Amino acid sequence: MSTEKLAAFFKEGSLFSNLSAEELTQLAQIARERRFDRNQILFYEGDLGGSLYIIVSGTVKIVIMSDDGREHILGLLHSGDFFGEISLIDGEPRSATAIALDKVSVVMLSRDDFVRLLRENPEMPLKIMVTLCERLRKTDKHVESLAFLSAPGRIAQVLLNWAEAENQQPDAEVTIPHKMTRQEFASIAGTSRETLTRVLMDFQDEGLLTLEKNKIHLHQRARLREKVV
Ligand code: CMP
Repeated sequence: MSTEKLAAFFKEGSLFSNLSAEELTQLAQIARERRFDRNQILFYEGDLGGSLYIIVSGTVKIVIMSDDGREHILGLLHSGDFFGEISLIDGEPRSATAIALDKVSVVMLSRDDFVRLLRENPEMPLKIMVTLCERLRKTDKHVESLAFLSAPGRIAQVLLNWAEAENQQPDAEVTIPHKMTRQEFASIAGTSRETLTRVLMDFQDEGLLTLEKNKIHLHQRARLREKVV
């Protein structure tokens, strides 16, 4: 991407919007671009953190993994989102693994450049804190659902979240985001693939939804909401 295009991309995003045109150009000149294919690992949990990542296009899933290779998705990040800040700020290893969910293009800033930007731009630490707070709130909600909801309740909740993100129609077709596999869907709902399949079939038998390829047609959102227990 040209320096001008990259500077314009930085200007659009909330993190760097307060920088002057000159600072944005400088930032675009020092940032490194990298591309990743679907399923490629950007970094592993436990790696030493070297850079801040900003997503230009595509989706990155942030996961933690069990010793036997099962993954739990902590979050999905999209164009304009940044990640990799935690280990740069606290100097500890990466707190989670980052994997490309589809074709992903990122720009990377070295730790030194990131720290210099934080020092020189007093509003930037606050913006990062706001994002960290949003992520903490989301994670708290997720922990709440893992702690208190049944597996069907968690699956219903994920479907309702996707439906709400897509549209406000009461009777909605929900596209499973990013051609996500059943395993990834199950991981977001904090359940196994087998349980997910069984619960979706039960919901279908009850007339709450129809399963289609990469799509789930929700028929009765109000009744699905009753399953969130
Ligand atoms: P870092 O620890 O450097 O590397 C992993 C990154 O994943 C971390 O920085 C954050 O940017 C990001 N991350 C960690 N936990 C979450 C979460 N719960 N939701 C979204 N992003 C996260």
